[in-house]
Amino acid sequence: MSDTEKFKRKQFGNRFLKNEEDVFKHNAWDNVEWNEEQESQALTQVCEHVRTKMSEEKATDLENNADQFWDKFYSVHQEKFFKNRCWLFTEFPEITSLYDRKSSCLLEVGCGVGNSVFPILAHSAQNSVHVYCCDFSSNAISILKTNPEYNENQCTAFVCDITADEWNPPFALESLDIILLVFVLSAIQPDKLKQTVKKFYEYLKPGGMILFRDYGRFDMAQLRFKEGRCISDNYYSRGDGTLVYFFTQNDVQEIFVGAGFQEIQNIVDRRMQVNRGKQLKMYRVWIQCKYQKPIL
Ligand SMILES: C[S@@+](CC[C@H](N)C(=O)[O-])C[C@H]1O[C@@H](n2cnc3c(N)ncnc32)[C@H](O)[C@@H]1O
Repeated sequence: MSDTEKFKRKQFGNRFLKNEEDVFKHNAWDNVEWNEEQESQALTQVCEHVRTKMSEEKATDLENNADQFWDKFYSVHQEKFFKNRCWLFTEFPEITSLYDRKSSCLLEVGCGVGNSVFPILAHSAQNSVHVYCCDFSSNAISILKTNPEYNENQCTAFVCDITADEWNPPFALESLDIILLVFVLSAIQPDKLKQTVKKFYEYLKPGGMILFRDYGRFDMAQLRFKEGRCISDNYYSRGDGTLVYFFTQNDVQEIFVGAGFQEIQNIVDRRMQVNRGKQLKMYRVWIQCKYQKPIL
């Protein structure tokens, strides 16, 4: 087993399906290999999505009003939709290592209602880490701020569209140790990624880290899309109007390395989730990456 393989297994859990007959004995299997037939079926589905794209007019309207669709999402679901990201500390030990420093700053971009922010605050007993967090949905930020665990000495939440030319954030250039991106870059227009990542570079300290986890190409959520939801290759609008892009490892590499970052990790996490009651197999694909701003 290669070092990368060992690392992957350690990080992503270690329940491996060795015998197909056992598939419905557990709720999930790690590091599932896809066979050629499965890959080619997925590709056929995705080509069909592109063939039945939505009109450009509709796509432009969805993109221009993206914040309003997320606002609606949070007014319907409040804080009940996403689960706390409890895997953060095993996948990203860089966060835990901040707690040992005298003082440090972390920014979570697209924080929603705080499913990463609150676990991070709870672990930071000494108040040594200041957590900044932003989202362009003002509803999400007000829900986050009314959480009894929100504490202004430790956390500053603000509304910000990260694709905008000006951010006006409550911190200085080159002041952040970590920027955390959890299922957020998939939600922005692919043609705005470059300018957005450039901003991340400007606000990180030299040596600072980007921690990224997001949807991967052919994830179950992509293959489930019906006709008329595709905007362009691997980029869709859900029924509620929110946008989602499905990344390859190469996509992420190009964006961050192209902006001057050094690649520390770029891996794909393929998991099979099983609905034992309905005897259903669901294939999840996530991309997890770490990039560092060089110390020049
Ligand atoms: C899939 S949710 C993930 C929320 C959170 N990171 C989590 O894991 O629970 C995507 C989030 O990105 C936010 N978002 C999308 N586009 C954004 C933008 N241009 N600027 C800031 N936030 C954005 C949405 O409002 C939403 O809260």
